[in-house]
Amino acid sequence: MRILSGIQPSGTLHIGNYFGAMKRHVEQQAKGDAFYFIADLHALTTVQNAEALRSNVLNQSLDYLAVGFDPKKCTFYRQSDLTEVTELAWYLSCVTPMGLLERCHSYKDKVAKKLIASHGLFAYPVLMAADILIVRADVVPVGKDQKQHVEVTRDIALKFNNTFGETFPIPEVDIAKEVAVVPGIDGQKMSKSYDNTIGIFEDEGSIKKKVMSIKTDSKNLGESLDPKNCNVFDLYKLVASAADLKRMEADYRSGAIGYGDAKKRLLEALLSYFKPFKEQRAKLAKDPAYIEKVLKEGASKARATASKVMEDVRKKVGVK
Ligand code: ADP
Ligand code: TRP
Repeated sequence: MRILSGIQPSGTLHIGNYFGAMKRHVEQQAKGDAFYFIADLHALTTVQNAEALRSNVLNQSLDYLAVGFDPKKCTFYRQSDLTEVTELAWYLSCVTPMGLLERCHSYKDKVAKKLIASHGLFAYPVLMAADILIVRADVVPVGKDQKQHVEVTRDIALKFNNTFGETFPIPEVDIAKEVAVVPGIDGQKMSKSYDNTIGIFEDEGSIKKKVMSIKTDSKNLGESLDPKNCNVFDLYKLVASAADLKRMEADYRSGAIGYGDAKKRLLEALLSYFKPFKEQRAKLAKDPAYIEKVLKEGASKARATASKVMEDVRKKVGVK
């Protein structure tokens, strides 16, 4: 079974990215034939500064390797190194109905916010389909917000197969059920666009400030708190041990804990959960040449598969 996923290098990774996507990617390395990449071409739809893009790619690669991506267990590469992807995107775009793309939330949302939509943003799902189909991936693990894009990939693959003959398997989307949406410090979905994130590699002082500012209701000390309806508790669930979680839940219900102390427990659990990752990242950051080597080797591993698929595709569409 072939697994594939990508993350955009368009900002600092937060714990929503980790629990919604990266953690499972790390676990899945052991289960199958996994392909993971840094989606720098997709990031170009928003990051339009060469220095920033380059440094984001390097930083994101460090982040990934630090949280446990292992280039020996998976194929880890930079999207732009696999140049065949953009060629495939063109062939796919020629069988993609406009209406399919016009229905995509990510595009519709930007237009609704009166942001100027580029053709790149509109065609974003086609490039994503190319990422997935170029290695004939079977399963695509992503967060809920990317589900529609994978569904578009399925439609495009079907359309291509119907037009040119059986070429691509139809990939399945795989959404983590138990942590579908990680809340941010304001209670909305944690997202870099909402300025409500807690970074995986953020320093202690800054995490502390954010944790202490998490929105809660205004129950008084001594009152019973509702663990089912609390951002602090929702975040604690992700990083606490089973025993600590049980204790916190009991203390919530009995009124033995107030939000101030709950936040302190959350802070402690967050810091200890992410400490090993921070240490590993600091080690890797000393050798940027190693990161470049890993990415290049990953791309040539991916190319072994992609070039065969492309030979088949070129013949099927008639350019070879
Ligand atoms: P952001 O919302 O911060 O812009 P991205 O869209 O870059 O995040 O998401 C990268 C990956 O992380 C995707 O697979 C996405 O589904 C997942 N993800 C992002 N935010 C969350 C969240 N709050 N909860 C769960 N998963 C998330
Ligand atoms: N669009 C995805 C995101 O923003 C990143 C991505 C690009 C991706 N290509 C992909 C994810 C292919 C899965 C498969 O999170």
